[in-house]
Amino acid sequence: MGRNYNVTVVGATGMVGEELLRILAERSFPLGNLRLIASARSAGWKIQFRDRDIAVEALSERTTFQKGEFVFISATDEISRKYAPLAAQAGALAIDDSGVWRMNPEVPLVVPEINPDDVTSHNGILAIPNCSTTPVVMALWPIHKHNPVKRFVAATYQSVSGAGRAAFEELKRTTAASLAGEAVNPNVHRHRIAFNLIPDIGSPSKEGYTSEELKLVNETRKIMHAPDMQIAATCVRVPVLVSHSAAVFAEFSDPISPEEFRKILSGQPGVVIEDDLTHRVYPRPYESSGKDPVFVGRIRRDLSHPNGIAFWVVGDNLRKGAALNALQIAELLIARGHV
Ligand code: A2P
Repeated sequence: MGRNYNVTVVGATGMVGEELLRILAERSFPLGNLRLIASARSAGWKIQFRDRDIAVEALSERTTFQKGEFVFISATDEISRKYAPLAAQAGALAIDDSGVWRMNPEVPLVVPEINPDDVTSHNGILAIPNCSTTPVVMALWPIHKHNPVKRFVAATYQSVSGAGRAAFEELKRTTAASLAGEAVNPNVHRHRIAFNLIPDIGSPSKEGYTSEELKLVNETRKIMHAPDMQIAATCVRVPVLVSHSAAVFAEFSDPISPEEFRKILSGQPGVVIEDDLTHRVYPRPYESSGKDPVFVGRIRRDLSHPNGIAFWVVGDNLRKGAALNALQIAELLIARGHV
């Protein structure tokens, strides 16, 4: 029998932390001790994991990490900036969900179905991509290996859970308030999200793009080892609770038919095709939530380019977009004997 691995979850009470615990309970991960950490606000709360209750500890200056344990961090950028290096210094493996480490050249940014070999070289910190990058690269990578992507344009439709629990609750609260004819006062989203769209995720960045849009550009290039890939995106927050969607228009090096695209993509690990417009079959965020794969549909010629394909991709941002991908990295490190 192989050994078991201790796991610490920093941000255990958050939306991603909660999903990580759900997935951890489902999978046959070789789990040793499980430690749950959040802010002082949650200290002492009990979280049920399988048949036991685990008390949440407060993160503090006194928090220490152990050699060989996995530390999953999904809290705030500040916490990742400070605690991921502390975990690494202690000999633990930090698997981080923030935007702080992803583009650091010493930090592997990994989607196990795409660039598993990148886990080989790390300094104790490994990063998962932003939740809107992952479904897009999952759909493009299998095709890219046959027929390299030269350029793509994406518009994302991102659920509120991607912005954390408070943002998730605010959609519910403001939708109810709006239907009741009451005042809608947003304080987490920048504007009302109920019955609305907000084309502004993250912070204003270069040349009129948001930081979220540049994450999609830069992370895709890093994961796919394609520094010259041309990418432009518009990222939009939509009044959906869970699962991110994207409309993608991709230009490949050579012509490719929708049939070929479907054939290459079908059977790829982690990807499911739902594509039959005549019968009204295509992925939808509500129905994709709580599921592991990313779902691809609406595959068709891009009529504006001979080498172009348009498609629609949907994935649960808390699962493959965050917690599942993080756990798969840990499983990959174990399988390869890197811990
Ligand atoms: P808490 O629930 O105690 O605030 P989400 O993105 O879904 O809102 O989750 C954020 C996670 O990060 C939560 O588990 C939250 O804990 C945790 N967190 C936020 N701020 C801190 C902090 N200063 N110290 C430790 N954990 C924090």
